[in-house]
Amino acid sequence: MLRVRCLRGGSRGAEAAHLIGAMVGRAVSGWVSRAVRSTSSSAAALPLTADEPVTEHTPEDCPVCAHNEWDPLEEVIVGRAENACVPPFTVEVKANTYEKYWPFYQQFGGQTFPKDHVKKAVSEIEEMCNILQHEGVTVRRPEPIDWSVEYKTPDFTSTGESDYPIRTVEDRHKLAAQGKFVTTEYEPCFDAADFIRAGTDIFVQRSQVTNFMGIEWMRRHLAPTYKIHIISFKDPNPMHIDATFNIIGPGLVLSNPDRPCRQDYPIRTVEDRHKLAAQGKFVTTESEPCFDAADFIRAGTDIFVQRSQVTNFMGIEWMRRHLAPTYKIHIISFKDPNPMHIDATFNIIGPGLVLSNPDRPCRQIEMFKKAGWTVVTPPAPLIPDNHPLWMSSKWLSMNVLMLDEKRVMVDANETNIQKMFESLGIQTIRVSIRHANSLGGGFHCWTTDVRRRGTLQSYFL
Ligand code: NVA
Repeated sequence: MLRVRCLRGGSRGAEAAHLIGAMVGRAVSGWVSRAVRSTSSSAAALPLTADEPVTEHTPEDCPVCAHNEWDPLEEVIVGRAENACVPPFTVEVKANTYEKYWPFYQQFGGQTFPKDHVKKAVSEIEEMCNILQHEGVTVRRPEPIDWSVEYKTPDFTSTGESDYPIRTVEDRHKLAAQGKFVTTEYEPCFDAADFIRAGTDIFVQRSQVTNFMGIEWMRRHLAPTYKIHIISFKDPNPMHIDATFNIIGPGLVLSNPDRPCRQDYPIRTVEDRHKLAAQGKFVTTESEPCFDAADFIRAGTDIFVQRSQVTNFMGIEWMRRHLAPTYKIHIISFKDPNPMHIDATFNIIGPGLVLSNPDRPCRQIEMFKKAGWTVVTPPAPLIPDNHPLWMSSKWLSMNVLMLDEKRVMVDANETNIQKMFESLGIQTIRVSIRHANSLGGGFHCWTTDVRRRGTLQSYFL
């Protein structure tokens, strides 16, 4: 997930590269160092033996290493706009996009974004790469991918073979956790008792006796009058929904406490979404760890993260355990009804220097001020209303990429924020990526740091 998102663009993966780099660096920098020495100067090289212990961490030898967002950028991956496709209009997309674009998703979901627009985005990103190279940064590009090719998850594919090796109840629970039941996906099958009705909406669970093909069969027969919603529960033995989730009145449901519903996210309108966010409810639940690197932002040994539509507390905890004790993860939050990706909300651009979005105030801002940080409020973005931003807000204007402490890559059209940087003594490197913005990202989103020259330090004492 991390790798895919970081290379695709429209999402930030620098943190992923950093973390992978830090982990890989710990494991292999010793041999990288020795291998380099042994090939670059054979006379001086020490012979390597298989049992020689490798104990020292020498970060400067690791090809992937970035400790923060502002050390001098040496190498970067820039994503690709080629073949960009409109995601199908699922609840996840509904949870993360603006209402004015919902008809666009309904019409074009699964197809490519408008071809002319993508073509312009591709040239803008190429120009951005040229300018980065001109500024002395090595640029890497991923191979273009055909995003229209469908992929399948284990839940939705079937070999048609018997894949249900059950001997004990424990086997059954283990198989259910993997989404495997005694009914395969070989042919449609369902039991009416796995469906429960509320007028034009019908809810169904995949169970021991109802499979996805059966649900699909039902969906086609009942469309367009009825809508079938697949829901699931923490239940190792699902069979018949009505002792698990019993709808007993208009908007009134008995929900079995032993079998919590995983889809506790009844969103129809933006207002629903905002209400749910205020209650701390997001499209991602806490049933398994999940996180998006773009919800984390680094300042040396301190990493800041938000619980968002795409990063849950379990994911943050997973990250915390993997990075302790060297790194400290701080959960911060914002007055933001639609949190997704921290870098257009709270963008750390220097040691103790942060851009804080005035529309999404940080609830813990005093903590930063007490630590002596300078909190800068960026000016309102200048993107015109008629320019499509299918996947983000206009605040991509503050989604900038620091080339070092004194150089920032910023949009050529965003003259107000350029002035702000200049007043901070930061030189602006201007590139226009307006069409690339439409696909969901600014400079920080489109890039993944491979290497920044610097050392690991603490900036938050
Ligand atoms: N989802 C956020 C961040 C995008 C980088 C926004 O739209 O502002």
